[in-house]
Amino acid sequence: MTTKRPADPYHYGSPVGGDHFCDREEALAGVEARMLSGANVVLLSPRRYGKSSLLLRAIDRVRRRGGSSGYVSLIRCSSRREVAEAVASGILNGPLSSMTRRRENLKELLRDLRIAPVLGVDATGAFSLSFAAGGAPTDWESVLADSLRLLARRSRQRPTSLVLDEFQRVVEIDEGLGGVFKAVADELSTTSLIFAGSKLHLMHRLASGPGAPLLGMGERIVLDVIPEHSMTRYLSNRATAAGKHMDAHAAGLIYAAVDGIPNDVQRLAFEAFLVAGDTIDEETVAIAMQRIVSHQSTDYGELYERLAPTQQRVLRALACEPTGAVYAASFLHEADVSNPNSVRAAIDVLEGRELLRRRDGVWMVSNAFLRAWLCQ
Ligand SMILES: Nc1ncnc2c1ncn2[C@@H]1O[C@H](COP(=O)(O)OP(=O)(O)O)[C@@H](O)[C@H]1O
Ligand SMILES: [Mg+2]
Repeated sequence: MTTKRPADPYHYGSPVGGDHFCDREEALAGVEARMLSGANVVLLSPRRYGKSSLLLRAIDRVRRRGGSSGYVSLIRCSSRREVAEAVASGILNGPLSSMTRRRENLKELLRDLRIAPVLGVDATGAFSLSFAAGGAPTDWESVLADSLRLLARRSRQRPTSLVLDEFQRVVEIDEGLGGVFKAVADELSTTSLIFAGSKLHLMHRLASGPGAPLLGMGERIVLDVIPEHSMTRYLSNRATAAGKHMDAHAAGLIYAAVDGIPNDVQRLAFEAFLVAGDTIDEETVAIAMQRIVSHQSTDYGELYERLAPTQQRVLRALACEPTGAVYAASFLHEADVSNPNSVRAAIDVLEGRELLRRRDGVWMVSNAFLRAWLCQ
């Protein structure tokens, strides 16, 4: 008997679905139920934990149950105009897609926007909409609000939801923009908006504290890593399906080496799969780790060079020894920094770039491969 070898035993670097998706049942059910009932959700996690994968799967499930839904990523937006364009395009392609097939309907819908958009079609056949800026300054916040209000057209007929992924971009572009979403979300009481983002310090600024625009906007779901037992079972099963053996010990080592971060678990497992003969074991995992760090070394070198010297030393000190006591004399000495304020400033920058993160009170380098490179 021959075993069919899947081309990809593991997948990393972009959202996963199908056989590459494991666990997350509870979070998925929570998001799905809210999408169908018109409740909002704020979904938070560091990058690479699986937010987008989870949301795309939730949209699929909701559609199968008769809901209208769609997905917008704000990752490439750098101005308020681009946010309005991304949101309007996402709504036309997602929740309103069945209403936009006829040209008259589409024209009629777009009449609700205060600026007439230019409609294009991208390579995938999806609408891409742009608002040509006139000479006069434009009230982009109102254009964004008009765009969001298009959702009301659908929610009268069906459960309607819209995912706004990479929502931290909103704060990076303009602190006040979050308020527009809040105001319109309050109006659209039967529509479900899902705000998802990384850069937890920014997302927390949006979601908690006095005057925070997303405060009390809906259920807050914080996505942690996938539990070890499901992730390691997934790793072993996928290895078997692709014709190699991975024992529980090796799977556990892979998980632990990268702090259980789903993207990095899949990446290390993939490399170990390539390195191994018939069996993925402790030795192949160690070689795989080395290979990834070495493949990345040019990128890491460039990243490191772009940091200021104090940031470099703080990063390196925390790579080799994570600690919560970053203002203690011993850490200042270790990182060769003259005072706590300089440490604070360096950590702010490093956290803002998602190079450092605090887990259970301890500051650590968030990427295990970078951490290994720094400590070599
Ligand atoms: N449910 C999951 N099961 C297995 N691997 C996952 C899962 N979710 C995410 N991953 C891994 O993490 C990677 C990044 O997922 P993604 O959804 O893009 O994360 P995020 O949106 O939080 O940055 C995927 O390519 C995959 O390797
Ligand atoms: Mg994502």
